[in-house]
Amino acid sequence: MLELLPASAAIEDGRLHLGGIAAASLAAEYGTPLLVLCEQTALAQARAYRRAAPEALIAYGTKALPNVALLRLLAREGLGADVSTLGELRFALQAGVPPERLVVHGNNKSDEELRGAAEAGAGLLVLDALEEVDRARAAGIGRVLVRVTSGIEADTHEAIRTSQHGSKFGLPADEAVEGIARARAAGLEVAGLHVHIGSQLLETQAAATTVEWLAAFAARCRLELDGWTPDVVDLGGGLGVRHVDDERPPAAERFVAELVRDLERAWSLHDLPRPRLVLEPGRSLVGRAGVTLYRVGVVKRATESVTYVTVDGGMSDNPRPQLYGARYAALLADRADEPPAGRYSVAGKHCEADTLIAEVELPAPRRGDLLAVPATGAYTLSMSSNYNALPRPAAVLVADGAARVIRRRETLDDLLALEVGADASG
Ligand code: LLP
Repeated sequence: MLELLPASAAIEDGRLHLGGIAAASLAAEYGTPLLVLCEQTALAQARAYRRAAPEALIAYGTKALPNVALLRLLAREGLGADVSTLGELRFALQAGVPPERLVVHGNNKSDEELRGAAEAGAGLLVLDALEEVDRARAAGIGRVLVRVTSGIEADTHEAIRTSQHGSKFGLPADEAVEGIARARAAGLEVAGLHVHIGSQLLETQAAATTVEWLAAFAARCRLELDGWTPDVVDLGGGLGVRHVDDERPPAAERFVAELVRDLERAWSLHDLPRPRLVLEPGRSLVGRAGVTLYRVGVVKRATESVTYVTVDGGMSDNPRPQLYGARYAALLADRADEPPAGRYSVAGKHCEADTLIAEVELPAPRRGDLLAVPATGAYTLSMSSNYNALPRPAAVLVADGAARVIRRRETLDDLLALEVGADASG
């Protein structure tokens, strides 16, 4: 279990500690559900990326967990941010991410978003459609990448595969060549190419194939576009995280070192000038750093073989099991050294079958126990909802025995504040 937990996790006398603090104390102080983020783990991942590619721009994939304190922490490590909406852009600017380290995405950018990127002085805007060329120019954008779809199918859930033929993202090769030509004719500086094949990748093969494909594509551009070659190559994000024992993603350092080596090899094979690399990791920076703490409520036997352990959250704070069939592990934070008493199904409190974990071995759970779900830092809080009028959880950053709230818990008053005519006189 420790391999799934953050670097600072320890089990002392059967009690889970995170960042030097007992999980039980965190839950008592900040309530549940609670997203606990281990600073040490996020920093270690950021540093692993920087070490493996010291010259590259590492732009945090903000969508994994858009949080100002986290963006600030990562910016201090020299990272930038990949943002894909005006909201994410605002978060990154608020965090003080230097504008030249911003990469602006979006498959359907509004004019307001294009203007926002231009006004912020974002280093790179990634063109995702031919019609964006003129709109980007009109908005005052100067420097762009062109996103291209390689046709390579990453081995991951189809909803998070993004570079196959027919993807809504980017431009197929022929259109991408046209896009570069049009953008240059319109006076934009086309700095290079972008590709992102998908997310939660557990092996390196698809990324390696993509790099080879991209080098061949860059060579084609040189031929068809008067010698134009990319100064910048952005390979997106995608490295997966281990949520359960049988998922074995490569370590970030190895994944990146292989990408750098593949890029150098493929580029020299085609005799292309060496580009500057950009990477956009999201999940692999924050996924393992996060542990969600839930309070156990009803424990109910449904059939001979199924007993439900119900928690005080569910699909509103983690919709991934239902969206992607994502699997998670769990432990009882205060009885982590007790032997399992059986297999349980963990379900949420929502008005549908929101099974969070189909099957997990636990010591016999009781009302009031604290259930910890590891590897929940990415795409949980960021995809949370208020389904069943449930306020969203808080997030705390822990390190060296100290905890800091980096996102406060929503209240029912927050929710009611959005309701027009909600006051008694209305
Ligand atoms: N760059 C681009 C252009 C992206 O679209 C994404 C993720 C990333 C970088 C970061 O990818 P990462 O390193 O996190 O894999 N909600 C889904 C994941 C959606 C990913 C969307 N794009 C999930 O919960 O699995």
